[in-house]
Amino acid sequence: MSGNFKKAGTHLSQNEGLIFEKSSPGKKAYKLPPLDVPEVDAKQLLGDATRDDLGNMPEVSEIEIIRHFTRISTWNYAIDHGMFPLGSCTMKYNARVNEVVARLSGLAESHPYQPTRISQGALRIMQMLSEQLIEITGMNAITLQPAAGAHGELTGILLVRSYLESQGNPRKKILVPDSAHGTNPATAAMCGYAVENIKSNAAGMVDIAALEAQVNDDVAALMLTNPNTLGVFEQEIHKIADVLHAKGALMYMDGANMNALVGKARPGDFGADVMHLNLHKTFSTPHGGGGPGSGPVACKKILEPFLPAPVLVTKSDGTLTLDYNRPQSIGRVRMFYGNFGMFVRALAYIMANGPEGLRQTTEDAVLNANYIRKHLTGLYELPYDTPTMHEVVFSDKTQTKKGIKTGDIAKRLIDYGYHPYTVSFPLVVPGAMMIEPTESESKEELDLFIDAMKQIAEEAETTPEVIAQAPGRTRVSRLDETAAARKPVLRWTPKA
Ligand SMILES: Cc1ncc(COP(=O)(O)O)c(C=O)c1O
Repeated sequence: MSGNFKKAGTHLSQNEGLIFEKSSPGKKAYKLPPLDVPEVDAKQLLGDATRDDLGNMPEVSEIEIIRHFTRISTWNYAIDHGMFPLGSCTMKYNARVNEVVARLSGLAESHPYQPTRISQGALRIMQMLSEQLIEITGMNAITLQPAAGAHGELTGILLVRSYLESQGNPRKKILVPDSAHGTNPATAAMCGYAVENIKSNAAGMVDIAALEAQVNDDVAALMLTNPNTLGVFEQEIHKIADVLHAKGALMYMDGANMNALVGKARPGDFGADVMHLNLHKTFSTPHGGGGPGSGPVACKKILEPFLPAPVLVTKSDGTLTLDYNRPQSIGRVRMFYGNFGMFVRALAYIMANGPEGLRQTTEDAVLNANYIRKHLTGLYELPYDTPTMHEVVFSDKTQTKKGIKTGDIAKRLIDYGYHPYTVSFPLVVPGAMMIEPTESESKEELDLFIDAMKQIAEEAETTPEVIAQAPGRTRVSRLDETAAARKPVLRWTPKA
């Protein structure tokens, strides 16, 4: 389809030393006008707070510093650079309109210590976002405080714990399917629960019989991702909720994969009691290095009294305020009210799309994953034949016959100009290759990615040694990941 055009080619990507290594004494990156006020001795002004020895500081010219940071910025792979099919992470394009709105000075320069009287606009944004997310999830109440998905999990399970304790019914265990993200069992353990695993069935879903056998009066909740980490929708989700509720246990939904559901199905309607959303996934706010995250937690009415304080409320005169008088609250989980800049971006995304746009986004995300599935099935093993939602999980089973593993294929993908897919997760699939294209990619880009994956499958047959040593077209070749993790060198020391 795309002829001989290959995504990767030679690229200007120069080696670059550390800024300290470029330093020569006396160089400056600034020019100041002559002093036109009396010079004051810093010691006189600052006393002991003055620092005489600045240690080892780089001394470079302006162009050297600009080139240094510009060059190293090009080494970073980003969604603005190309497709980023990192499964489970929903690396979608973050529209520039979000950034424009978040930078409006009235929003960017507002301060959380401003009195609520002059923060009505900011509070209104939080209220509007809360209302939209409650509508999207089918829940009754929400907190915007948590700073990430994992932080949302912690908040949600603390709500469950406080609720059960308030009922005089504290419980000991949390159930977690074997396909779960590692943060789920970690959260349960941090909240003081014992973690019990549930096996998936042959279709990659929760085994209802196993669940029925495991749920008893000791079980506080099941933490379930839906669609799960195999990209499979839990078709018996109502039944799962019924089994839990019949025994007084709650259903926590990990909403990391909401990009497959927004505008189509609401967790509150299919039985979830509490869930988190990752604004940095589904609602197009920047991930990780691009900015702080946000993991709002939405819940049913029974859990509302326990939400972190303060809670946003409307006064009788219609103005908004923050209610700190919440005697049953689990307490604050984040300073101030959460990462406000992310709320602005997420609300901009929701409003720019509208209900129809959000529904279309969901359909496009699912369509794109299925397009990839259709074109790569046969070349890579598909361990679960169940319909795919927003991501597709293959395995390296075919390629391991030639000694090529998922990590090798991922590194070869870098040579073709793509960020790798998620390697070796979920754990239920040995040699997992988890691909999530998101709705952001055009058919043309998907075709180029598929081409690259096809060529790698062919190379695994004909020239496996090339893949085993990949990447070969990058500035640095394969790194020793074990040594990097176990013996990291994190500090530069000047040569004597
Ligand atoms: C299924 C699932 N649950 C939870 C998380 C944790 O979310 P966060 O990275 O925002 O803490 C992730 C993150 O990758 C995930 O994929």
